[in-house]
Amino acid sequence: MKILLYSEQSEESQVIKNMITAFNSKIEVLIAMNIDQVMNYATVDGPFALYILDFDTQADINALGLNLVEMTGKRPLLFVGREAILNDLVSDDLFYSHPKNNKLLKPTSRNGFPSDLKEAVETALEWAKKEEFEESIQEIDPQDFLPMKIRSFFLYEKFPFDLYLAITTKSYIKIISAEKPYTHATLSKYARKNVKYLYIKKDEQIKYLEEETKKCMKALKVAKPEDKGIYLLLLRSITILHQFILALGVTDTVLAFTNAIAEAIVQQYRSKQTLKAILKVYPTFYQGIASKSLLTAFLAQAFAWKIGWESNTTKMKLAVSAILQDITLPEETMAKANSLKSDYIKGHDARAIEEYKSHPVKAAEFAKQFTNFPDIDYIIEAHHELPNRKGFPNRPSSSKLTQICAVFNVAQHIAAEIDGEKLSDIFLQKITKPMAKTHSGGFFRDVVTIAISEVRLK
Ligand SMILES: [Fe+2]
Repeated sequence: MKILLYSEQSEESQVIKNMITAFNSKIEVLIAMNIDQVMNYATVDGPFALYILDFDTQADINALGLNLVEMTGKRPLLFVGREAILNDLVSDDLFYSHPKNNKLLKPTSRNGFPSDLKEAVETALEWAKKEEFEESIQEIDPQDFLPMKIRSFFLYEKFPFDLYLAITTKSYIKIISAEKPYTHATLSKYARKNVKYLYIKKDEQIKYLEEETKKCMKALKVAKPEDKGIYLLLLRSITILHQFILALGVTDTVLAFTNAIAEAIVQQYRSKQTLKAILKVYPTFYQGIASKSLLTAFLAQAFAWKIGWESNTTKMKLAVSAILQDITLPEETMAKANSLKSDYIKGHDARAIEEYKSHPVKAAEFAKQFTNFPDIDYIIEAHHELPNRKGFPNRPSSSKLTQICAVFNVAQHIAAEIDGEKLSDIFLQKITKPMAKTHSGGFFRDVVTIAISEVRLK
């Protein structure tokens, strides 16, 4: 069990911590020395059986206590301080927020302090046990759980299975119950604390991916180009597809699902016949691998139409390549990078950077299993190559970069730049115009000219 101790008195907080662990070595005491830290611990490292608040501070600790109760649910509080201070500062609201709340009088050096502390802690822990507070923490075999990117849950309001947060490698806590609505604020709170994954039980994940795939395929079948939700449906489908491939590999279901998504994209562009109509309503808030993939697909469709390609297979190839290009990126934000020197790459650890460098090759490996589209692995492996040999990973001469590579690479470059951004014509021109220089060789020149005139809102 864990206790969260708020105290700005570093020596005294250590004394209190030592006293607690002396009478119960199984209790973990986290010490927070400022308000930010206490909020961090309370949201990410909990649940705590007890909060101990040392009132020897200038901070408004009464308000802090009320915030903690509101944020993490009612649980016992132990107020530590001189009698007069506690009488003055602990409000009735806070004091009566839980029946087991208690006061513990300073100084810590007084004779009765250790035994009073022990009694107060034990009373609180007893309550915690009785409330089966620990039920939500599971000592588990990590093998039974699978990580799912926290970002994918932003597409839902509730989820069919319990979702867990890893506290240590072996203990997980349930933070969202199955079928219970949750808010984006809840997810953001964890995402801000650098939580990247929520966990789901293994057999439930497979069930979820299969059921969700079925649902998406059904919805794609009946979706109409004018449906407002079509872009979100495509985003959700691509997100599920990515998870499916990464978890279970390229199965028959994956092949059918990929086809259904690509067909919906090709069909959607065919009915609109212009990028403007799509960019104006595109839900840009959902930045990440799925979103960049979908934007690439639409941009590539637009360029293919402008060039005058009639083949439906070519359009499908572009869409499938777009869906698969970044599937192995270790971080969502890396989808926004367009070079190894990008700010979206810097700051990641060496392993993640290596994975970024090799992501076109790894994605191409997946693409080879899509035997309906025999040469998409070439498009995918080359998706970050540039005509001036300044791309990566292979830097071929520009004669090796085909027209379809040029279409795809220009599309993916622009998609990366605009994904997650507020779109305006000024912004779009700022992205496309410089490409006349950076993407000038071989087939790229004409595609960039098309991009400059087509990637617009008006
Ligand atoms: Fe990429």
